[in-house]
Amino acid sequence: HWSAEEKQLITNIWSKVNVADCGAEALARLLIVYPWTQRFFSSFGNLSSPTAINGNPLVRAHGKKVLTSFGDAVKNLDNIKKCFAQLSKLHCDKLHVDPENFRLLGDILIIVLASHFGKDFTPACQSAWEKMVRVVAHALAHEYH
Ligand code: HEM
Repeated sequence: HWSAEEKQLITNIWSKVNVADCGAEALARLLIVYPWTQRFFSSFGNLSSPTAINGNPLVRAHGKKVLTSFGDAVKNLDNIKKCFAQLSKLHCDKLHVDPENFRLLGDILIIVLASHFGKDFTPACQSAWEKMVRVVAHALAHEYH
């Protein structure tokens, strides 16, 4: 369900993404903008202020892990559901993360990409990425019951 242009826009931006930096920024923004998401990360130590969150090495490491996994979806655009079946089970059965949070993280990732790429993040590019984060959120929610 991807056009050739969408695939190209997604993989082109992805090839220039710094996964560690953007992943850290996206997770930190999630924890700052939607503070209720902090309750999943009580083992990460000090999340008491934006400064603490931005400087927290566990947030940084986990953000990188999450965005690296996003990269697996980019490499498997035609197979995202299957690619995320195990992760969906983990977030549902073990972590009990409300799928609404996947949508929030997707929205934040768009903001992070827009702020990193500036005018290169064209409306067409944004449109392809909006679809991408929607498909990923949907795949992660797929095993919920
Ligand atoms: C763990 C991916 C969204 C909460 C993980 C792991 C990955 C991952 C790859 C590590 C799994 C492992 O160790 O085997 C993703 C992706 C997301 C996403 C691709 C969306 C695009 C979220 C959201 C939350 C969340 C929105 C909560 C608000 C967690 C928690 C863990 C985890 C609590 C375990 C952390 C730990 O203690 O190590 N996720 N995740 N995830 N995720 Fe997600």
